[in-house]
Amino acid sequence: MSQRAELIATDIAAYLDAHERKSLLRFITCGSVDDGKSTLIGRLLYESKMIFDDQLAALEADSRRIGTRGGELDFALLVDGLAAEREQGITIDVAYRYFSTDRRKFIVADTPGHEQYTRNMVTGASTAELAVILVDARKGLLTQTRRHSYLVSLLGIRDVVLAINKMDLVDYAEERFAELEAEYRRFAARLGLDRVQAIPLSAVHGDNVLERGSRMPWYAGPTLMEHLETVETAAAATDRPFRLPVQWVNRPDAGFRGFAGQVASGVIRPGDRLRVLPSGCECRVARIVTRDGDLPEAVAGQSVTLTLDTEVDVARGDVLAAADCPPEVADQFEGTIIWMHDEPMLPGRTYWLKIGAQTVAAMISPLKHRIDVNTQERAPAERLELNDIGVGEIELDRAIAFEPYAQSRVLGGFILIDRMSNQTVGAGLLHFALRRAQNVHWQALDVDQATRSRQKLQKSCVVWFTGLSGAGKSTIANLAERRLVAQGRHTYLLDGDNLRHGLNKDLGFTAQDRVENIRRVAEVARLMVDAGLIVLVSFISPFRAERRMARELVADGEFIEVFVDTPLEVAEARDVKGLYRKARAGQLRNFTGIDSPYEAPESPELRIDTAAMSSEAAAEAVVEQLARRGMLGPS
Ligand code: ADX
Repeated sequence: MSQRAELIATDIAAYLDAHERKSLLRFITCGSVDDGKSTLIGRLLYESKMIFDDQLAALEADSRRIGTRGGELDFALLVDGLAAEREQGITIDVAYRYFSTDRRKFIVADTPGHEQYTRNMVTGASTAELAVILVDARKGLLTQTRRHSYLVSLLGIRDVVLAINKMDLVDYAEERFAELEAEYRRFAARLGLDRVQAIPLSAVHGDNVLERGSRMPWYAGPTLMEHLETVETAAAATDRPFRLPVQWVNRPDAGFRGFAGQVASGVIRPGDRLRVLPSGCECRVARIVTRDGDLPEAVAGQSVTLTLDTEVDVARGDVLAAADCPPEVADQFEGTIIWMHDEPMLPGRTYWLKIGAQTVAAMISPLKHRIDVNTQERAPAERLELNDIGVGEIELDRAIAFEPYAQSRVLGGFILIDRMSNQTVGAGLLHFALRRAQNVHWQALDVDQATRSRQKLQKSCVVWFTGLSGAGKSTIANLAERRLVAQGRHTYLLDGDNLRHGLNKDLGFTAQDRVENIRRVAEVARLMVDAGLIVLVSFISPFRAERRMARELVADGEFIEVFVDTPLEVAEARDVKGLYRKARAGQLRNFTGIDSPYEAPESPELRIDTAAMSSEAAAEAVVEQLARRGMLGPS
């Protein structure tokens, strides 16, 4: 009877206690089904008795019926069966399996091996401390081996097991193993992976998986399971300075104020000095509160609530850190971005960036380069497509406490979320803060927007006209401006065609260029609002995300979106500039409404149906709208 079974039988409390105290190793397996990955995981689960009786019965039946092992258990069927289950749900792309032995608990992330699944591998690897990279002894190191290793190193995994499988098919030859190991070590060293354990295996026959077997007497190293059970992974998070991102401010009554979260690194005791970031306030820990009573100390990985000795301002998303060794605070970074969505990543677009317990608005500025995951070569890139990896600058709308990803996955790793759909669209890692951000400050000015507006007897705002080319935006905006000026208002009209002759003349009509086009005009409009003007903006501005960004640059109520709603057929029939004809003839690419999308506003402040209303009447409606909103002051 194993030690475990004996304890379960005789002293369940002692068993559970021992189980609780066992260390946990999270690892990821990389390779394809062809490499024997399913067979290997199946054997680990089976031999560590982690298969339910009904699964085992099904496995025995399937092995007899469709197995490839002549009636013996075919472990691949077990794992592939689980995989098929998961393929029914489209959201779960990584299968996490749990097993344990007498010495350790394990969570293994299993991801599909194909190239298009970079996204899944990144997800699985981001929480793993070790990677098992499978290689077929006959095929040797492949492009996918290099890709897996690159991603593993990128995501900060330092410990690698090079599992050279199918040794039975190369006659258990020591030379073949030695040759592959040497080749891999040379390659891995270039990626900074120097903690590599190579193990020759036959997952099918079980050699060197749990048992050593007798067929490779020349191999003196550990079996796979021995290694997994004993390996001390690189950095113990307890050795690093204390960090706790605040998930939740717990304030049940006036007498208690606690800050809850998971300790990301370090150790904390009552009395320790803390710094709150980004504000920089200092305080001391009063108590470490848990459901089971107060603790004398808490370490990395524990979820706790801290109370402080003084009333300092701490909000959700702030970081509590060791006062004598705090992390940096910044709002501009260089970082790596891994794109995980079908819609491309467009520099200039604003996304939500979630890091630690903090969510902020973020923009990626033009990319430095893209990295080919297969060759690790760099190439210029204007945007990132699904599964692309790029390096660029990241700008946040406010400063956050952070650490480089290489030091802290929690304070250096982030995900990007689309602001319109709320879907996770990317992941990334921060490299370092850009120094220029620290050297530019806000200059306080005495004359402000309110003063400038008051002087002009109006309230400044943006009137944003959006619609297809030829919808009538510029005509209506022009007439509206004339009316406003005739009333003595102070205005300016920013027109897409006109700005494309100057400020935006370097931009074309790809999605990323349009994003940048709108970003610039939105910034100019914001300045003009600050100058006290009523700003009319007439741009196709086809994307909701950028119109929303423009809206958020000014205060509530200062953005009036006017949807000039002309159906495509009507705009095309007018074709004042002859551009639709060219686009239909294939002489003009990326034309809005033809081969580039237009996302109509969902709730504009004003919708103008140009089929039912003349341009004069539309201009009148715009001015009325401004008057109703109190922008035109006393008249
Ligand atoms: S936007 O999409 O980036 O907002 P913008 O309003 O600046 O476009 O410019 C649109 C004008 O550029 C159109 O009115 C049209 O005259 C001209 N144009 C030239 N090529 C294109 C194209 N491929 N798609 C749309 N407009 C184009």
